[in-house]
Amino acid sequence: MAKIGLFYGSSTGNTEYVAYEIKSEFDKRDASLVEVFNIGSTTPEQMLQFNYLILGIPTWNTGQLQDDWEVFLPKLAGHDMTGKKVAIFGLGDQNGYGFNFLDAVGTLSDVLFDLNAEVYGLWPTESYQFNESLAQIENHFLGLGVDQEGQSQITPKRIEQWVKQIVREFEL
Ligand SMILES: Cc1cc2nc3c(=O)[nH]c(=O)nc-3n(C[C@H](O)[C@H](O)[C@H](O)COP(=O)(O)O)c2cc1C
Repeated sequence: MAKIGLFYGSSTGNTEYVAYEIKSEFDKRDASLVEVFNIGSTTPEQMLQFNYLILGIPTWNTGQLQDDWEVFLPKLAGHDMTGKKVAIFGLGDQNGYGFNFLDAVGTLSDVLFDLNAEVYGLWPTESYQFNESLAQIENHFLGLGVDQEGQSQITPKRIEQWVKQIVREFEL
């Protein structure tokens, strides 16, 4: 079994694309480190087999969870994630949805904190322009922010740097 389970939900393919770009970055180190799953066909038990998790979530419908995450998250309730190391990446559109940029990352983090998971991979907000975000704590997001509408040209660099950070923080 791979060491890290990467679970993503994606309605129009952007988060799926980034999920596999992140896997490729890990593959440069060790191709057996990361296994990718679509949250739409995952059970909590499958997810909780992993002690290291990367979760990919886009924000939809003005501040809401993506549909498959909306179905999955209530099923996680009641499970214990003590000792699980989790890093989140979120997809959003800062120009189109500047008052709800990456909100789903904040909603997902709240659930993870309630289940006692450890959240890593916090990412500086300084290279983004937005008004409000549930994903923000002071000058960081609770995970990597990716904007394929407005900043796709810097996505590869962000992924490369974030994966380096996760390797360090997960102590892989
Ligand atoms: C109807 C609609 C609502 C959206 N709402 C938000 C939002 O509230 N916040 C945000 O950051 N992005 C929002 N987005 C942008 C999506 O998160 C972005 O397009 C993302 O890349 C989609 O990922 P996916 O293709 O993996 O589903 C919205 C997009 C659409 C079309």
